[in-house]
Amino acid sequence: MSHLPDTPAAPLVASTGATSDALAITGRATWGSRLGFILAAAGSAVGLGAVWKFPYVVGQHGGGAFLAVYLGCVLTLGVALLLAEMTLGRLTGKSITTALRELGGRRWAWVGRIATFNAFAILSFYVVVGGWTVAYLMRVMTGTVLASDAERLVSEFSAFIADPVASLASMGAFLGLTAVIVAAGVQKGIERAGKWLMPALFLLMLLVIARAVTLPGAMAGIAWFLTPDFSVISGATLLEALGLAFFSLSLGAGMIVVYGSYLPKDARLASSAVWVATLATLACCLAGLMILPAVFAFGVAPNAGPGLTFITMPAIFAQMPFGHLVAIAFFLLLLFAALTSAVSLFEPVTAFLIDEYQWRRGPAVVAVLVATFVFGAPAALSFGVWSDVRIFDRTIFDLMDYTTVNLLTPAGGLCVAWFIGARIWPTARTVLDGTRAQWFVPVWRVLLLVLTPIAIFGVWYQSL
Ligand code: PFF
Repeated sequence: MSHLPDTPAAPLVASTGATSDALAITGRATWGSRLGFILAAAGSAVGLGAVWKFPYVVGQHGGGAFLAVYLGCVLTLGVALLLAEMTLGRLTGKSITTALRELGGRRWAWVGRIATFNAFAILSFYVVVGGWTVAYLMRVMTGTVLASDAERLVSEFSAFIADPVASLASMGAFLGLTAVIVAAGVQKGIERAGKWLMPALFLLMLLVIARAVTLPGAMAGIAWFLTPDFSVISGATLLEALGLAFFSLSLGAGMIVVYGSYLPKDARLASSAVWVATLATLACCLAGLMILPAVFAFGVAPNAGPGLTFITMPAIFAQMPFGHLVAIAFFLLLLFAALTSAVSLFEPVTAFLIDEYQWRRGPAVVAVLVATFVFGAPAALSFGVWSDVRIFDRTIFDLMDYTTVNLLTPAGGLCVAWFIGARIWPTARTVLDGTRAQWFVPVWRVLLLVLTPIAIFGVWYQSL
């Protein structure tokens, strides 16, 4: 990362001074302002959600049918809510809590506080998996992990996550890296580097897909991933698909509001939303095409759970020419993608302490770092020494994942949809003034006020 431009210590995601920062982020004349925003938002969206979470959740919920529901959610509610969160940021130039208070009064600020708590809670389990990425990067660098024997890979992975010292240390390393980036205020540099590194990750995924789909037995996995069998859909499946759609777009945590606050007044919001959704979905689909054929080829159970990516990837690399180098490049790029997402979760929490309680930046970063470690440690330990601790029949990690992704995130989306579609609609709709596709204005409102509540309440009702 030595080529990162030296950027001043101004926070990317602070909620104050947003408009002047906007120029700094998006002022690259040749690309126009929109690209800066799209890359920053896509950098947050594309991360472990696509490469780690998506494949294993598809694996647990029946393949193609899940993919179809996921795509349906992203293209309708996902785009509508991306646009809604961007609108809040654009109208106020502030982060979510301040934005809602300014436009809706003191009671609405609570929605912002809950969304910020959601960001913090997501971060706390995100860093556990971020730690796995760090550990696997170290392992491929020292050449110890590549093997075609799936059973050995499963037992190595299980032993690693069950080891309290190894998992806490790697989680700490990942969290430390995130905090250093936020404290040094080099997010802009990171976002700019993302301009090259994200496409690099996509290209590398294509390369790995080429190997994965030509493995003997891989066709069954492709068919399973791409052919919907709607008989396997249950309420739980719908809830997972909806939650994952929001999670993979970084919705419900106030993130997009903050990035939207940097948008210059002339940026076209609707097409930006479509772009972010497209890139995030593409990342999920590529990850699915990479992992699931290999799962079938190596005889791993598709419902093996959160370890799926970490178990199958080394097996694919072991069967590739220059597999060792490809593995290093892959885990490096995955680590980078995970860091850009983690930074986007860390920064709003830090900005919240600065804006709402007038903390200084240094102590705020340290406080978030310590709190995340304390909150994340039980999640990390729940794969090993605390695996017997069950709350509502779930491990601590599962419970944190479930409550944030499937409950708090959709709840945040629901509130924002209502706020934009009902509470401030006459103002909100002005963000689409001058857009050529005026037909989208009423469609957007219907999506916010009708489809979003029906889908979210319906899915909660079905599954809870
Ligand atoms: N979208 C990220 C991912 O898929 O890895 C996770 C995420 C980041 C969720 C930021 C929410 C958020 F605010």
